[in-house]
Amino acid sequence: MLNKMLFHQFPKFKSWLTRIQYEFVSTMVKDHGAVFMNFGYAPRHSDVEPLELHPEDEYHRYPLQLYHHVAKHIGWNNVEALEVSSGRGGGAHFIMRHFKPKSYTGVDFSTRAIEFCRKHYKAEGLHFQHGNAEALNFPDNSFDVVVNVEASLYYPNISKFFAHVKRVLKPNGYFLYTDLRYQEKVEAWHKQLKEIGLKLVQSEDITDNVLKALELDREQRIRLIKTYSPKILQKIFYEFIGLDPNAPAENLPHLDNRRYWYFVLQKA
Ligand SMILES: C[S@@+](CC[C@H](N)C(=O)[O-])C[C@H]1O[C@@H](n2cnc3c(N)ncnc32)[C@H](O)[C@@H]1O
Repeated sequence: MLNKMLFHQFPKFKSWLTRIQYEFVSTMVKDHGAVFMNFGYAPRHSDVEPLELHPEDEYHRYPLQLYHHVAKHIGWNNVEALEVSSGRGGGAHFIMRHFKPKSYTGVDFSTRAIEFCRKHYKAEGLHFQHGNAEALNFPDNSFDVVVNVEASLYYPNISKFFAHVKRVLKPNGYFLYTDLRYQEKVEAWHKQLKEIGLKLVQSEDITDNVLKALELDREQRIRLIKTYSPKILQKIFYEFIGLDPNAPAENLPHLDNRRYWYFVLQKA
């Protein structure tokens, strides 16, 4: 309830709190235990071939599958990509290794997350730099692809971010975008997206896939919170990911009446 009120009534304050929250995560977690910070994705039907992963990626299967789902619809050959709000870089590093673009630049407003990424990922063409989604300082027409995963909900003025996406994309470039919104805000969100002036290539409600991932990843998420979060904050983190560790395992996680969507847009 408080979370929802902050999002809707005080977006700038919420953004400030978000920054503190993500700086805190990178202060608490120094290792690779939490290189992804999204709710994850799982196919809904068991007849879908599981994504083949390197053994070291298996631990991050569900959040990594969200990046795979976001990235798999376009060709990556010779692509120069920008990810806005790349967090602790797990997705950037995965896309670099799996889809092999020419270059991939991750930007985040958490200075500690950027420090972590610069220290931990050494791959040619993979760069990280500090920046704000609403004030990107890249030249016009400089990227073939812009990626944004579960972050725009925190931006106080999303129109500014969308205007930058359109500006920095090269003609025919793609915007690969996924995020969640409270049910009653979904229609307005879709309208804002239409107003960017990019062509909508694909859109999909993936809420059920995200809920399935949360369900399958339940034990690991509980373990993560127990490992990294001080006891006094654990309840907040459990609520944040829609889990009650004391409830029977068959109690399904929830997204607090929010819907999760995925979009592919293209600059004409
Ligand atoms: C839920 S995490 C997702 C991180 C990453 N995309 C992932 O899936 O692992 C949200 C990220 O958005 C970043 N963020 C929030 N507001 C931002 C802003 N205005 N500019 C840049 N990054 C921002 C946070 O620092 C955090 O790393």
